[in-house]
Amino acid sequence: MNRVKKKLKVLALFDAIRPTTLDQDLSDELKTEDWKTEANVLEALQQLGWVAEHLAIFDDTDLIRQKFQSFQPELIFNLADQFKNNRAFDQNIVSFLELHGVPFTGCGSTGLTLCKHKGISKKILGYHRIRVPDFVVIPRGKRVVRPKRLAFPILVKPLKEEASLGIAQASFVENDDQFKERVAFIHEKYDNDVIAEEYIEGRELYVSVLGNHRLQVFPLRELVFKEVPPDEPKIATYKAKWDEEYRKRWGIQNEFARELDPALIRRIEQACKKIYRLLAIDGYGRLDLRLTRENEIVFIEANPNPVLARDEDFAQSALGAHLAYPQLVERIAQLGMTAVRD
Ligand SMILES: Nc1ncnc2c1ncn2[C@@H]1O[C@H](COP(=O)(O)OP(=O)(O)O)[C@@H](O)[C@H]1O
Ligand SMILES: [Mg+2]
Repeated sequence: MNRVKKKLKVLALFDAIRPTTLDQDLSDELKTEDWKTEANVLEALQQLGWVAEHLAIFDDTDLIRQKFQSFQPELIFNLADQFKNNRAFDQNIVSFLELHGVPFTGCGSTGLTLCKHKGISKKILGYHRIRVPDFVVIPRGKRVVRPKRLAFPILVKPLKEEASLGIAQASFVENDDQFKERVAFIHEKYDNDVIAEEYIEGRELYVSVLGNHRLQVFPLRELVFKEVPPDEPKIATYKAKWDEEYRKRWGIQNEFARELDPALIRRIEQACKKIYRLLAIDGYGRLDLRLTRENEIVFIEANPNPVLARDEDFAQSALGAHLAYPQLVERIAQLGMTAVRD
C-alpha cells in the first residue's frame, strides 16, 4: 500500500444544524457526544502528522469554495451527511465536491443516491438475486393502500432517513389500521415518503467493508437483544440505538457476531462484496443484514459513509481485523486520494 505523503493538507468537512461561518470556533461542539465522530477523526488526522483544518456547513456551499481558496486542501475528509437538516441531501454535497475535482473520502454521489433511496437499492439487488424484503413505496400525498401481496407483519419506515429516525416499536404493524396510522405519521411528522417492508425475522448483522476495487470485509458485528422476550419483534429502533437506559433495560448490545459457521461467514462476505459493488459504494460502507433461522441472508440496508466514531461498529470491526483507528483513517484517506469520481 502506498503511503500518503508526509504533510498532507486535509480539510475535514462537517455538517451543522444551524448557519456557520468560515472560521467558526467549534471547540465547544467538538466536546459533545453529537460531535464524537468529528472529534475522533480530527484527533486521528493530527496523530498521522497531517495538516488538518475543519469547516462545518449548514446550507451554504459557498463556504466550501471559499475554504478551498484560502486553505487549498489536497483532500477533503467528508463527514458532512446532511444539508439544511435534510439527510437526503448528502449526495448533493458530494456532487458539489465532484464538480470541484478535489479528492474526498468515502462514497461518491452515485452510491449515496442509490443507497439513500431504500426502494431503488432493493430493486437493483433483487434484480441480481440478492434476497431483499418485499416492499412498497408510498409517497407523501398519495392514498395509502397496502398491496395484497405484502403480508403482515410489516415494518413502516421513512424512505430516506438514517440512524433509525422514525423507527419505533409502533413501526411494526400487524393490521391495516396500524399500517395506515403509521404511514400517515411518517408522512406528516417526519415529512418523508414511506417504504413499508415485509418484516424479516432473524439475527441482525452489520458488515463493514473497506475499499474501492479490492474490498476487505472486517469481522462481523451483531446487534443482540438479550432481555427482549423471544416472541417480541427485535428492531433497531431509535431508542435501541441511542438511549443508553433503554439499551440496558432490554440488554441491547453491539458485539462481534458469535457462533457463525466459517462457511456461512464466507457466504456473507461474498454477498456483501457483491452488494457493495452493485450499489456503487466507494471508500467504506456498512451493510445491514438479517440472517433467518434457515441461514438465509436478507439485505436490509446499505450505509455508505457509516458513522466513523471510534466506539461505533465500523471502527470496532476494523479493530477486530487489527486495524487501529488512526490507520483506519489513513486507509480511508488513501482510498479517497485514488477514487475515480467521473
Ligand atoms: N424489513 C425489515 N425486517 C426486519 N427488520 C427491519 C426491516 N427493516 C428495518 N428493520 C429494522 O429496523 C432497523 C432500522 O432500519 P434501517 O432501514 O436500517 O433504517 P436506518 O437507515 O434508520 O438505520 C434495522 O436495523 C432493523 O433492526
Ligand atoms: Mg440501518
